[in-house]
Order: sequence, then structure tokens, then C-alpha cells
Amino acid sequence: YAQLNDLAKAAGLTYFGSATDNSELTDTEYTSILSNTSEFGQITPGNTQKWEYTEATEGTFDYTKGDVITSFAANNSQLVRCHNLIWYSQLPSWVSSGTWTNATLIAAMKAHIQSEVTHYKGQCYAWDVVNEAFDDSGNYRTSVFYETIGPEYIPIAFETAALYDPNVKLYYNDYNIEYAGVKATAALNLVKDLKARGIQIDGVGMQGHFIVGSTPSLATQSANLKSFIDLGVEVAYTELDIRFSSLPPTSTGLTTQATDYVNTVQACLDNMPGCVGVTIWDYTDKYSWVPSTFSGAGDACLWYANYTHHPAYDAVTSVLASY
Ligand code: G3I
Repeated sequence: YAQLNDLAKAAGLTYFGSATDNSELTDTEYTSILSNTSEFGQITPGNTQKWEYTEATEGTFDYTKGDVITSFAANNSQLVRCHNLIWYSQLPSWVSSGTWTNATLIAAMKAHIQSEVTHYKGQCYAWDVVNEAFDDSGNYRTSVFYETIGPEYIPIAFETAALYDPNVKLYYNDYNIEYAGVKATAALNLVKDLKARGIQIDGVGMQGHFIVGSTPSLATQSANLKSFIDLGVEVAYTELDIRFSSLPPTSTGLTTQATDYVNTVQACLDNMPGCVGVTIWDYTDKYSWVPSTFSGAGDACLWYANYTHHPAYDAVTSVLASY
């Protein structure tokens, strides 16, 4: 039967992908599906390219764990969305609790970006250069970078990343920017500002961490994607999952989840070629981040923990096949 990535590519997308993580790769039932390029043409390391893993000690770089993911992708001819360079979370304490000046933190940021982008040069379809820089009010989120450097840390990050891999797409990535509002406006303004200054930004990632029944409509998501594409960037859904707030799901709930997934995937399809792909934030409930973060919530993925499909899986394959 037809599977996600094959159908996505036939429809005109560049890939359909999944996040993964190192600890999951010993599960052979898991890897047999993740490595199936008919399902997944792209993977994203969910953790091990982040700063706390790659430069736990200042100036000591360790890409061992991240390389496990990029090697898996290379062995299976899958694209990698590299994730991420600058984020307020999952920082080593020497960064988050360091004593910094504007100049010393800029230097540390530049050194980190130079090392990591150089290490993964040629191996990434895209880099999430800056992740989650805005709060839900559309203001700059408090972080060591913002507190020390101010908003200029973002253009500096993009300019630096552009120096070390000329072929990788540079993305801004965030959640709650999948629909019009103050946060999406902040992201749109960031794109405008970088473009006006001649600083490379190629894409905006819509994370897409949604809740069953309150996922934005097709029209809302589609118009929002277009607002970004109209500025001259590509877009992608980079971390899609749609969770139930309480478990177990009802059959009505599963039907709603299927509709929610379809609305999101269709918004991307309706905005090709500006929308390039959809990545789910792991494909099975067995390894979803949701239950550990939202107590009682879950079943957000397209595969149940036992590797059978949610109804949403068939709904997504159907909409992909219809293009
Ligand atoms: O690796 C350690 C392990 O050694 C330890 O025993 C265990 C005990 O807590 O923790 C493990 O680290 C966890 C790590 O995932 C790997 O499993 C961290 O505690 C846990 O906080 C971390 O969660 C990750 C989360 O980002 C952190 O914010 C999730 O896996 C990851 O899916 C999630 O991904 C983020 C994106 O990067 C950005 N957008 C939101 C998305 C969901 O939160």
C-alpha cells in the first residue's frame, strides 16, 4: 500500500519525515519503520544536536550522538533537518548560568555555530538556526541570549550560520505561529527585518504541536503559510503532533484527530511549492514527548505505541494521494 513519503513526493512535497532520538534506535521494530523511505524521506534528531549535547563544556565539541542520527539518515538516503543551534532550552549550565558580557556571549555563540555547522556541512537539508525566540504575546522570550545581547542575537546567529555551509537552508522555528496572531506577526516581522538587512533566512518552521479539536482550520493554516511564503521564504511543518488532553481517546476523538491532521497536511499541500514538507515529532506514541510534559495527555502520533496505525494515518495517506 502507498506510504507517507512516497505519496508526499508524488504530490509534490520534498519529504514526509519524523523526529527520532538515539535511545530509540535499539528498538528494531521502531527502526524498521523509521528507515523505510516509503514512509519517511527525512528525519530530525529530537535532542542530540542541541547545545547541551554538542558543547557540554566550553570549547569541547562532541558530535558522537548527533552523528548516530545523521549516519542513520545517510545509510537510508534520508534528508536531515538539523535541530537546533540557538535555543533558550537544553543549554549547558556554562551557557545558561555563565557570567557574560555582550562581547563574550556573542563570541561563544559564534564559536558554537561555527563548529556545529562546519561539522554537519553537507549533511543537513536545513538548520533550525534559532528556535522559539518569541513568547506567546509576541515579545522576545527571556533567555541568556536576549538578556545579554538583546534582539540582535538572532541576526548574528543567522549571519554566522550562513558562513559555514553555503548549501543548507536556514530556518527560524517556533510553535503557535501556525495561525495569524501576535506571535506569527513577530515571526513575520523577523523575516522582514532579516531580509531587509540582506541576512540569509530561507525558511520558517511551523512546529505544529496541536490539541485534538482545537487545531487551527485548513483555511486558517493555509492563509498563515501563505503570509510567510509571500515574504520569500519556504515553510514546513517541523514537529507535527496532535495530542488528546485525556486518554483513552474516543472513536469520535480519533475521527477529529484525523481531520486535524488532514487540515494541517492539506494546508501544506495547498501551498506547494512554498511549503516543502511535513515532519511528525516522532511517529509512534511509544516515543512521544507528550505524556512526560502534559500529564494525562497523549496518543498524539500517527502510530500507536504498539505500532498499529491511528485512523489519522489513513486520513493523511488519503489526502496525500488526492494531490
Ligand atoms: O538523556 C537524559 C537521560 O540520560 C536521563 O536519564 C533522562 C531522565 O530525565 O533524561 C534524558 O534527557 C531527556 C531528553 O529529552 C532525552 O530523552 C530530558 O530529560 C528531556 O527534557 C528531553 O525532552 C526533550 C524536550 O525537547 C526538551 O525540551 C524531548 O525529548 C524533545 O522531543 C523536545 O523537543 C522539543 C523541540 O526540540 C523544540 N520544540 C518543542 C519540542 C517538544 O518539547
